Amino acid sequence: KALIVDFGSQVTQLIARRVREAGVYCEIVPFQSAEKAFDAIKPGAIILSGGPASVTQAGSPRAPENILNSGLPILAICYGQQTIAAQMGGAVEGGHHAEFGRAEVEVIAPSALFDGLWETGGRHQVWMSHGDRVTKLPDGFTVKARSENAPLAFASDEKRKIFTTQFHPEVVHTPDGAKLLANFVQKVAGLKSDWTMAAFRGEAVKAIRAQVGQGRVLCGLSGGVDSAVAAVLLHEAIGERLTCVFVDHGLLRMGEAEEVVRLFRDHYNIPLVHVEAQDLFINALEGEVDPETKRKTIGRLFIETFEAEAKKIAADGKGAPEFLAQGTLYPDVIESVSFTGGPSVTIKSHHNVGGLPARMNMKLVEPLRELFKDEVRALGRELGLPEAFVGRHPFPGPGLAIRCPGGVTREKLEILRKADAVYLDEIRKAGLYDVIWQAFAVLLPVRTVGVMGDGRTYDHVCALRAVTSVDGMTADFYPYDMAFLGRAATRIINEVKGVNRVVYDVTSKPPGTIEWE
Ligand code: XMP
Repeated sequence: KALIVDFGSQVTQLIARRVREAGVYCEIVPFQSAEKAFDAIKPGAIILSGGPASVTQAGSPRAPENILNSGLPILAICYGQQTIAAQMGGAVEGGHHAEFGRAEVEVIAPSALFDGLWETGGRHQVWMSHGDRVTKLPDGFTVKARSENAPLAFASDEKRKIFTTQFHPEVVHTPDGAKLLANFVQKVAGLKSDWTMAAFRGEAVKAIRAQVGQGRVLCGLSGGVDSAVAAVLLHEAIGERLTCVFVDHGLLRMGEAEEVVRLFRDHYNIPLVHVEAQDLFINALEGEVDPETKRKTIGRLFIETFEAEAKKIAADGKGAPEFLAQGTLYPDVIESVSFTGGPSVTIKSHHNVGGLPARMNMKLVEPLRELFKDEVRALGRELGLPEAFVGRHPFPGPGLAIRCPGGVTREKLEILRKADAVYLDEIRKAGLYDVIWQAFAVLLPVRTVGVMGDGRTYDHVCALRAVTSVDGMTADFYPYDMAFLGRAATRIINEVKGVNRVVYDVTSKPPGTIEWE
């Protein structure tokens, strides 16, 4: 295993991804708890991340001494490089806050990290962090690569296997970065590349059995990839002691409920409770226009429905379920280092089954909590989930309700479902589905005048949204070509009664959010 000590860089998670792509399992820990984690995890290699602080400031983060003295191979990136210099007898000159930029490094001496990759004299593109810089190296270190603005772009003590870099090997803008990281964990640290999805599957099944024992587990399915993968994995581990509940709140996309039911009942033969709660939800939402109230109403009803189902399950006399399964992923779990402090503003109340475990007095089973989204997809493939399901765009818990600004009605949902299906069909035909992070239609509470044939129309406006993103935290609108937008708009207006105008949303996040409510 490799241990990544997080100093608060925005891209620490990418280090973990690159290491795992090299087949080596790793964990991220905040620098404050690194000393303990080191003893508990017993890693074979250490990576120190970048971070926003300045080592010249009093009280700035440091790498724990037990790690520095461990004799293990260390790769220190950016802030990591500076703290190594400060802690091992070098010097760092204060500059400004770290800022990224493209740079070219020239290799001036060989390093074990460059093995089979970079030759002396070669020039390579990297993504560099400017700001503080190391001015004097600790004893034993020599420079192996430099750039115009960074004379110590890469310096190492090859004997002690400590490598420090001012550039970021983990980002895609450093094209050879993934290979440098692979060299570090595989060749330098000699860690085995045995982190595969097949291996994970076996480990996860064992871990679930150990945690659950003879208990029963309830798993809520949302129609999304994460909960589906968690459910299939749990079923493999504990069979009929798992009950899957799929609450159809009437806010799903076209064909979605049927697809989930088919997947579980027919494809996997996993029993599924399909709760038809459409009227309950839609009646409660009637006349409600405030986005937060809509979200909260849906969350509350979801919890109530779920509780009622849990009671029914316990009624068979085989015991009440003590465990609740959730498809929580690694990015939600890692305790990232935050330097901003203070309470953050609630932008939206995200709805998942978060309120459930406490209210129902259940213990959580989270078999995916060590995985990134793309790893969950890989695990889904490993478990035989159909490709079309594994590659799905994310879909929010409150469903189409938050894509119907203003009041939700059955009629509006029907129009929206059709427009959305036509739009996604065009995206698939254009081969863009996998390029886009998320795409959907929004039905606006605005009517405009149009002309169709010889008649006047007065119908809804449909807005189209498509974004690229890595994690949903920030996003760019997708730059379609106009011909595509024209085709999608024409088809929607021709095929969907109730829509006579289509617009495209060109807002990125921030300042917009991905969903409209
Ligand atoms: P926003 O709109 O906040 O969305 O930019 C970011 C990502 O989160 C999804 N989203 C949700 N997912 N429950 C969910 O499970 C929610 O309540 C929820 N609200 C937004 C959204 O679709 C996007 O992928």
